[in-house]
Amino acid sequence: MAEIIHDVASLAWIFQMEASTYCIRLNEEQTSLQHIYWGTRIDTATAREMALAWRTYFVPFESTIGNSREEFAPWGELRFSEPTLKVAYADGTRGIEWHFEAYGIEQEQRKQTLWLRFVDQVYSLQVTLYYRIYTGHDVIERWVRLENSGADAPIMLEQAFSADWQLPHHERYRMTYLHGRWGKETQVTETLLSPGKFVLESRRGTTSHQFNPWVAFDVDASATEEQGEVWSMALAWSGSWKFVAETTSYGTLHCVGGINDFDFRYRLDAGVCLDLPMFVGLYASGGFGESSRKWHLYQRERLLPETLDAVRPILYNSWEATAFAVDERNQMELAEQAASLGIEVFVMDDGWFGERAHDRAGLGDWTVNRAKFPRGLNPLIERVNELGMRFGLWVEPEMVNVDSDLYRAHPDWVYHFHKRTRTESRNQLVLNLARTDVRDWMFTTLDTLLSEHNIEFIKWDMNRSISDPGWPVESGHNPERVWLAYVQNLYWVFDELRRRHPNVAFESCSGGGGRIDLGILSRVEQVWTSDNTDALDRLRIQEGFSYAYAPRAMMCWVTDCPNYLTARTVPLLYRFHVAMAGSLGIGGDLSHWTPQEREEARALIESYKRVRPTVQNGKLYRLRSPRSGQVAAAQYVAQDGSEVIVFAWGHSQQFGETQIVLQLYGLEQEASYSVVDESMHYSGAYLMQHGLKMRLVGDFASQMYHLVRHALA
Ligand code: DGJ
Repeated sequence: MAEIIHDVASLAWIFQMEASTYCIRLNEEQTSLQHIYWGTRIDTATAREMALAWRTYFVPFESTIGNSREEFAPWGELRFSEPTLKVAYADGTRGIEWHFEAYGIEQEQRKQTLWLRFVDQVYSLQVTLYYRIYTGHDVIERWVRLENSGADAPIMLEQAFSADWQLPHHERYRMTYLHGRWGKETQVTETLLSPGKFVLESRRGTTSHQFNPWVAFDVDASATEEQGEVWSMALAWSGSWKFVAETTSYGTLHCVGGINDFDFRYRLDAGVCLDLPMFVGLYASGGFGESSRKWHLYQRERLLPETLDAVRPILYNSWEATAFAVDERNQMELAEQAASLGIEVFVMDDGWFGERAHDRAGLGDWTVNRAKFPRGLNPLIERVNELGMRFGLWVEPEMVNVDSDLYRAHPDWVYHFHKRTRTESRNQLVLNLARTDVRDWMFTTLDTLLSEHNIEFIKWDMNRSISDPGWPVESGHNPERVWLAYVQNLYWVFDELRRRHPNVAFESCSGGGGRIDLGILSRVEQVWTSDNTDALDRLRIQEGFSYAYAPRAMMCWVTDCPNYLTARTVPLLYRFHVAMAGSLGIGGDLSHWTPQEREEARALIESYKRVRPTVQNGKLYRLRSPRSGQVAAAQYVAQDGSEVIVFAWGHSQQFGETQIVLQLYGLEQEASYSVVDESMHYSGAYLMQHGLKMRLVGDFASQMYHLVRHALA
């Protein structure tokens, strides 16, 4: 059971989690919150002993507190490393001197929250630090509430991060993170840290393809896939963000992060509160594999929205088949083909609205294009429903084309600087969603669309970064708050739509995986992983995704060959096996599939329906990385251990090496496992110690094994 214990004698709070312990304490003067311990679970007496033994140490030419390991560092006094909070008061004072005021522990079923309030000794700034833990988990959710408790003077926030994570004392750390670009998201990357700062960030107003707000640390590159200690963090924010991993000259490593301070200022008016985004930390002692499994469990049980579906339905998406040229006839034909394969949700992508014949027009005009759909959308939706599928629709509500009625009516609604170019990207401009009128227009438009049609799935796209972040009419003389207000209003629209339309599931897309983070994942059932649907490239993208995020949320389509991006042709079976490793979708032009391909697809969709509870909700073991060797493999074990799914993907066979043996994980030594549709039986010990033997013949060969555990005789 998760527990937060306050020890009065040591001024400490000890967090006892599933398999880890975290400990913090106040200094004697109660002016600083110190980090004591974060690691494998220890007993409370040992944590208390550590807290009691804590001392600042003298370093010539430095201050003791400035050099200590603070949980949250307010800039001021002799602090020179990356702070967590920097403010400017109305009279010009810029340093914070605070002291502890109060704390509370809130206990709810299976969850405990600690809050600690600090107040500036002179000015009206209150900072409340929150920590939340859950029974059965090893995550610590941290966030901050800033309050101006005064009567008149505003406080300008210049840097307002969510948390500072202190890593244990070790000589050197490796940092692992996910970087990429369009079509190449979530690539696993690592670097050994030397003294100095390593910054990961997005300045694009959105999460970004370039860096994902997740990072992991292990000691001197000692952790492997299934062994070693890993400390990782992820930020719940879909706007510009920043992590600073700083190794000080005294050998300590801390990682501070939150909303990006670049071009950011936020005026906290008297009487106003601001909640900063949640920054979540996780400790695992069983390598990157265990770290990922703990992230996945947390997301499934505590973060992803509660949904009507125990498993994600299989969807069809029209984009690669019909692009902008959607119409009632071709969508109905595709829907019929999709239904005959066993697909459960039919999603019509871009092109159905306004004057959207190409990407130069129409965005912003969310009314049905009558040339393409003379009878509106309802006949198509009814047909899709008759075929036994739900209907889903693509929207990109944050954007506008210059060639649109919306832009002609409201040219002032887009981001722009006075007297400056309105920089287009993909021929579109970004609506300034920080404006209340834009927010209300967006909500009403989408609410109407959902109220007037039986739409049960929305693919919410966002196809460009924010530039020219000007807000000329901002009334409070604080246009830089746009970075924050945009995301707050985006979340507000999502939350209101979900409240009003609880039967609608959402997918976050941003030119593929440009908006994947814990903030959006608490509002959508799934994300579009990448516009790159080449099966081989996908293995790398999906592997990186799985370091941080749950396979259940990872939408993967089977599309046509040659692939539009890589020109590569691989067998349909291989494409399916890669896409079946997450939430399966089909994105090919079904009207061109041969009868044999359809038959094969139908059978594979049928088998995916049998394995998906384990793939989507089970424990993932990455057996072989697509970054090394000719074969990649992954294994999923049902939460109750009753089923095991193994995928092996071989891409380029060399030297006639067709035999592979995969040692499995997480099985019961003495249980017996049978292979579905085959007569083979193996013991858990055999599968884990000897391994599952298989043959992969030729290039792009793949196998899926479905094993079922049998009760002991
Ligand atoms: C980018 C998305 O990632 C694609 O899947 C597709 O929806 C296009 N936008 C449509 O414009």
